Amino acid sequence: METTRWPGVWRDGRELFTRNADPGVKVYGEPLRTVDGVEYRGWDPWRSKLAALLVHGAPPEVLARPRSVLYLGGAHGTTASHLSDLWPDAPIFVVEKSPSSFAPLLALARRRTNLLPILADAQLPERYRADVGEVDLLYQDVAQRDQVRIFRENVEACLDERGRGVLMLKVRSVTQRRPAVAIVRDSRAGLGRAGLTIDGEWSLTPFAREHVALAVHR
Ligand SMILES: C[S@@+](CC[C@H](N)C(=O)[O-])C[C@H]1O[C@@H](n2cnc3c(N)ncnc32)[C@H](O)[C@@H]1O
Repeated sequence: METTRWPGVWRDGRELFTRNADPGVKVYGEPLRTVDGVEYRGWDPWRSKLAALLVHGAPPEVLARPRSVLYLGGAHGTTASHLSDLWPDAPIFVVEKSPSSFAPLLALARRRTNLLPILADAQLPERYRADVGEVDLLYQDVAQRDQVRIFRENVEACLDERGRGVLMLKVRSVTQRRPAVAIVRDSRAGLGRAGLTIDGEWSLTPFAREHVALAVHR
């Protein structure tokens, strides 16, 4: 097991791993590997867009240790579980609007106490803003038509004035009728109008088709 440029992420050949905060337990069928008494969990770029972003060359700052995190679109907690491994001391608020996804997320959070699930619509940050407070990392993966507006409103509601964010933009959820490059250009402009600086843009092909990751800071 070798260290990588991302703090808390290990590599064995081409496979990425995080240190399992819940030893012996898999979250999504990922491989477990024990080396020198430490258990690691495979981090699959086909299942987690954040792992795909690392494979595509994200800089170490993308995984710089935050004080607290707001994660929009947690689903069953696949990616959130790896953040939980990476940052055991950081509260990670995970918003999910689908009750059927929320049930497994809640079960995961019972085992991983730094995951704080919230059953809510990310379009209405005023509903959870008081609970979340100010975070210094906003991560969003909701695959909705108005993804950029949702991101901007959550920046306004919950992101510290020196915070940073990662938007997993599903290009085809915005519209089917315009070229992908135009959608990405407009999305970048929309983030700029919210006072955000774009630090990087990465296509996630082939792991997540028609997805672009945008890293930003305030
Ligand atoms: C692609 S999945 C997220 C996968 C997850 N981020 C991961 O990597 O493990 C998108 C999730 O966003 C949720 N979602 C979509 N719109 C939402 C909204 N407005 N508020 C909260 N969650 C939303 C969906 O229910 C779905 O579970």
